[in-house]
Amino acid sequence: MLVVANWKMNGLRRESIDRAKTLAQMESTNRLKCDVLLCPPAQILSDIRYAIDNSNIFLGAQDCHFDFEGPYTGDISSSMLVDVGCTHVIIGHSERRINHSETNEIVARKAEAAHQVGLNTIICIGENMEEFKLGQTVEKLSNQLANSIPDSANLNNTMIAYEPCWAIGSGSTPTLTEIDDTHKAILEFTKNNIFKQGEKMDILYGGSVNEKNADSILDLDHVGGVLVGGASLITEKFWSICKSADRKFK
Ligand code: PGA
Repeated sequence: MLVVANWKMNGLRRESIDRAKTLAQMESTNRLKCDVLLCPPAQILSDIRYAIDNSNIFLGAQDCHFDFEGPYTGDISSSMLVDVGCTHVIIGHSERRINHSETNEIVARKAEAAHQVGLNTIICIGENMEEFKLGQTVEKLSNQLANSIPDSANLNNTMIAYEPCWAIGSGSTPTLTEIDDTHKAILEFTKNNIFKQGEKMDILYGGSVNEKNADSILDLDHVGGVLVGGASLITEKFWSICKSADRKFK
């Protein structure tokens, strides 16, 4: 069970460090059973690493390049992320796929570069509103799964995050039944086509997760964690979501 904070391009250094320190303090006094991962903007990865030092919170990045070095202005390699203390990286978030024209093939190459240096990847997939309305969700996700996951992926280094594009930052989510059915379809597809023991995989849900809906989403049989954007910027809200995940162990 994993709870991921995706801070995206939000927050200056001081406030982000303070937020991370507060969370680290809360985690180290409560010792959560679920895993918690913070993915801050890249330029403060090192600061956040030190802020969470005395806790069990993991550090992750929001993206990496598919090459290890070279003439790629503005990009960051997977080995640089390891160098700064990351254990995880989000790959193929829909904001990267849409705003940076990242194809499934690019996503697969990035994930492979991450695996090569020992990073755990959270590979994001999700349909847009039109596809959702047309009932093409499973078809779209199957295509993304088939083409975004490199051969280097296994159950130990890869998690899938299902994030409907239309649910991200919108305040609306699929119904609980829709989320569970879609996660079931993802598990089925990964078991049959990618990982032999795919049913053992935790699939994360992301898209307008907040402190109010986290309990019911995390209660679903086929949901193994959440990826949180907006609500992860507010310590109390994010902590409440972490507690919801933690309760599943009791
Ligand atoms: P949101 O973002 O929680 O703000 O909807 C989730 C995400 O994009 O990872």
